[in-house]
Amino acid sequence: MKRMNTTIWKVQSDASSAHPFLTEAGSWIARGRTVAFPTETVYGLGADAGNTAAVEAIFEAKGRPSDNPLIVHIADEEQLDALVRHVDDTSRQLMRAFWPGPLTLVLPAKPGAVSPRVTAGLSTVAVRMPAHPVALELIRAAGCPVAAPSANRSGRPSPTLASHVRDDLDGRIGGIVDGGPAGVGVESTVVAVEAGGSRIRVLRPGGVTVADMRHAAPGVEVTVETAAEEALAPRSPGMKYTHYAPQGKLTLVQGEPGEVAAYIRRLLAEAKQSGERTGVLTTAERTELYEADRVVRCGHEDDMEAAARELYAALRQFDEAGITLIWADGYTSSDGIGLAVMNRLNKAAGHRIVQV
Ligand code: TXA
Ligand code: MG
Repeated sequence: MKRMNTTIWKVQSDASSAHPFLTEAGSWIARGRTVAFPTETVYGLGADAGNTAAVEAIFEAKGRPSDNPLIVHIADEEQLDALVRHVDDTSRQLMRAFWPGPLTLVLPAKPGAVSPRVTAGLSTVAVRMPAHPVALELIRAAGCPVAAPSANRSGRPSPTLASHVRDDLDGRIGGIVDGGPAGVGVESTVVAVEAGGSRIRVLRPGGVTVADMRHAAPGVEVTVETAAEEALAPRSPGMKYTHYAPQGKLTLVQGEPGEVAAYIRRLLAEAKQSGERTGVLTTAERTELYEADRVVRCGHEDDMEAAARELYAALRQFDEAGITLIWADGYTSSDGIGLAVMNRLNKAAGHRIVQV
């Protein structure tokens, strides 16, 4: 693609009233350009959801497969009415509980409301209202619903800092609003309500946990796709693609902590002998156990929220150091946000898990 000049606007993370930079960035979106911006999950790459050429520019900048639909970001409920045919009671309950926030709802689309490139031809549209002042102000300034996938090159870890966006997309997008670090660190939870409102199907675990949703919608069943099911019949089109993968080969190691460390140390020694560049991803408490070309700390024991915040930046560090073999130690808990962390780690590892 033709290289362009990517403008960077630096704003405070709580820029609440119409900031001149946000007014400008919003007008760029309104005029069909692509602008990356922070949300409370990860940075997104936004464009006017109704403008097919602008949406195509997102796919081109990212190198994203065209059959993977985009999430539409809105700033208020009126924008929702223009996008969807109907909102069932359970979806409504979830919106009340979690919007603005890291929850994306898949709903029946109003024909013609967004470009068919946004929905990849599906009859549904994924919608979320982000809980980040900069994102909300930007959407208001743009004056249209904003289609925005994560602002990374397709297949790379999602960006949690503006510098990650620049590393991946400089020269390929119109601009970047730099509002500091994103919040949760992993993407929003994507759900579809089924069976007449009696089931919430989690298509992608994320910032809103299963327990949060059970609490907000008592009596409604919440189901999570297993990796195996997902591989056979992907529900959320994006789930079938390799994601978040570092360039080196990542393996998750699980088991009794002492044995895990012994196993990884043995393989590190072997890998060094054969000239590999080695890496270990582990919690702050366990970094001292390893000697490798790169030991990257991510989260703390029993603090998967910290792991979620740090995960994508951690994965990017291995690529910067040209690491070829990586082992991850310390990640086993699928409770709460741990489910999203394990989901992303599993994908980053191409489902390579060793039990010792
Ligand atoms: O936190 C987030 O959700 C971030 C920020 C920027 O908002 N966005 C994000 O977008 O993660 P993206 O494009 O990287 O992921 C969108 C996911 C994909 O897995 C896609 O397949 C799914 O949402 N999706 C979009 N529309 C869908 C639909 N109509 N039905 C099912 N899944 C859909
Ligand atoms: Mg993404």
